Amino acid sequence: MIDPHGGTLIDRTVSGEEADQLAREAEGLPRVVLNRREMADLEMIACGAMSPLEGFMTEADYRAVVDSMRLASGLVWSLPVVLSAKTEEEQKLRPGGRVALADGNGVLLAVMDLEDRYEVDHAREAEVVLRTTNEAHPGVQYLKSISPVYLGGKIRLFRRIEHGDFAQYRREPKETRALFESKGWKRIVAFQTRNPIHRAHEYLQKCALELCDGLLIHPLMGETKKDDIPAEVRMRCYEALIEGYYPQDRVVLSVFPAAMRYAGPREAIFHALVRKNYGCTHFIVGRDHAGVGDYYGTYDAQLIFGEFDADEIGITPLFFDHAFYCKKCENMASTKTCPHGKEEHVFFSGTKVREMLAAGELPPPEFTRPEVAKVLVESMHGEVKA
Ligand code: ADX
Repeated sequence: MIDPHGGTLIDRTVSGEEADQLAREAEGLPRVVLNRREMADLEMIACGAMSPLEGFMTEADYRAVVDSMRLASGLVWSLPVVLSAKTEEEQKLRPGGRVALADGNGVLLAVMDLEDRYEVDHAREAEVVLRTTNEAHPGVQYLKSISPVYLGGKIRLFRRIEHGDFAQYRREPKETRALFESKGWKRIVAFQTRNPIHRAHEYLQKCALELCDGLLIHPLMGETKKDDIPAEVRMRCYEALIEGYYPQDRVVLSVFPAAMRYAGPREAIFHALVRKNYGCTHFIVGRDHAGVGDYYGTYDAQLIFGEFDADEIGITPLFFDHAFYCKKCENMASTKTCPHGKEEHVFFSGTKVREMLAAGELPPPEFTRPEVAKVLVESMHGEVKA
């Protein structure tokens, strides 16, 4: 089994008597309320998906990550994982003590050793991490919505974060690792997605599966931008697709709790490292991975892997060119494998697909499997007549 990032699978959850004790202590501590992204981060830190992180970043780690894509220890890490102090009271908290972390309803979940409170420059974070300060970028909008005062320190989660949905698909890294082991898989490729799986995605996954023992379809379930397809609709698409077109004994569908950052290249590194923690050995990076609009070059998220030694990343990225159905080839192909012109290629932008679905039109089977198209159209217009 592949080593987690940094060598040890972190576990910051406590249970039993220890959890009860912490919960009692938390009642008397100053509170910090987490937003949706921070909740997802808390959950991933606690279960080891963010190994080696044991808490929200302190200033030394934050600055090292922003400036050099490394933690203060030198280990590769590409995105800040931070907790913002939202209210005046939270911003006045003094390092040295402990704070209780609560969800939006005030439910106490964790205790954090408040090691650090520091102020950052959001314009610089955006410029360096997101490669833009354009306010139309969803990641820039997020930064504008939070305070630049961050709180850092190790956390201990004493209460399980309840989701109420996709329970059978929620697996922590130790669970995916055990599952892969039980299946005898040695080479496991992970696929990150925030979209329904169209034929191009399926093609990438199946090319990768030709080289590996198993496939982890790991759709992101945290916060996404408003016009992305909602998670529950996507889950129905994934189920329909897997049932109709995938060998059941070679694929695992599991949800990835993270929020989307739309940070393109840096997020591709993050997505890869985190999937290593889930036990995957390979990771698919296609065109404009984790991108939005035209902020990133089509293959920037692949090129960034060249800035590191392969053993510093640990998980092997599998790069794919832009894929599509080619009418001349009469099969799926990519710019790497197809000699024909664009006029032969069946490809629609996300915007075009949304327009088609809104008009009640099914995208063609060369673009989307009919079972998936049906789920998408039904989600917008109710039942579709065959
Ligand atoms: S992402 O934000 O999660 O990256 P998406 O779900 O669209 O968005 O993409 C999932 C993965 O498939 C990414 O690695 C992306 O680069 C890749 N991908 C999406 N569409 C294509 C395509 N037509 N050709 C090649 N790769 C693609």
